[in-house]
Amino acid sequence: MDERLAANLESWNDRTSIHLGSTFYDVEGWLRDERGPRPREVEALGDVDGLRLLHLQCHFGLDTLAWARAGAHVTGLDFSPAAIDAAREIARRAGLSSRSEFVCSDVYDATIALRHATFDIVYVSLGALCWLPSVDRWAAQVGALVAPGGRLLVHDVHPVAWALADDSLAIEHTYFEETEPFVSDSDETYTDANRPLVHCRTYEWNHGIGEIVTALIRHGLRLEWLVEHDWTVWPRFPWLVRTGDGRWTAPAGRPRAPLTFSLLASRDG
Ligand SMILES: C[S@@+](CC[C@H](N)C(=O)[O-])C[C@H]1O[C@@H](n2cnc3c(N)ncnc32)[C@H](O)[C@@H]1O
Repeated sequence: MDERLAANLESWNDRTSIHLGSTFYDVEGWLRDERGPRPREVEALGDVDGLRLLHLQCHFGLDTLAWARAGAHVTGLDFSPAAIDAAREIARRAGLSSRSEFVCSDVYDATIALRHATFDIVYVSLGALCWLPSVDRWAAQVGALVAPGGRLLVHDVHPVAWALADDSLAIEHTYFEETEPFVSDSDETYTDANRPLVHCRTYEWNHGIGEIVTALIRHGLRLEWLVEHDWTVWPRFPWLVRTGDGRWTAPAGRPRAPLTFSLLASRDG
């Protein structure tokens, strides 16, 4: 494995144990309340009952298993053994083991790890693309994983938000994909500032919207829609304010920038 991805993997193994106990993920509340998928995503995909859904970079599977509660047969894939072990345990506790499977693999090896299976829906949720050096290699995997007539739903951080400085609207990082990654040695993860990571060095890459969309088209998908959102679900910047529905957005009167985006793409039948 690329040594930068190997460093990220160690960080994700560390983060998993912290995230499992965090209020951000609230695993116990998720189990107790039997939370399903987000209404916005249900609206995008419609009825998933009986469909085969693959969640790439699934972490410990809450977003994956939410779709199992909506009736899909789900597969989650992540390269962190700690996350995959936790996902299987959460599935067991939720009574969803029979409609879920979790596979430990680098996303760049997904087609091999999944034995060239294809899926009605490939799903990618927040915080995925930034860990990947090449969006084109990712799209090649996705293109091979979406079944004929199937769809891809992505909701991720907007590349403009990645490019912004932490405390102003100034552009601090390159918007486009570059060979050189952003290198971070922060010992904090996004769920808990008070539980330091042991493996702090991480590598991330930005990918422009045009690069993402073009890569998907190049690998056989048709773009259905792309929406840029002025909100995210965690306080990415200190200047964001919380909205009534738990999202974070710019305060009234401040310029709005895209913070996350969603896209739906399909493969011809
Ligand atoms: C921010 S988390 C995704 C969180 C997920 N959207 C959720 O809400 O639970 C990013 C995930 O990507 C995984 N990841 C990073 N690089 C990967 C790679 N090359 N292959 C597979 N998984 C990877 C990490 O292990 C981590 O679980």
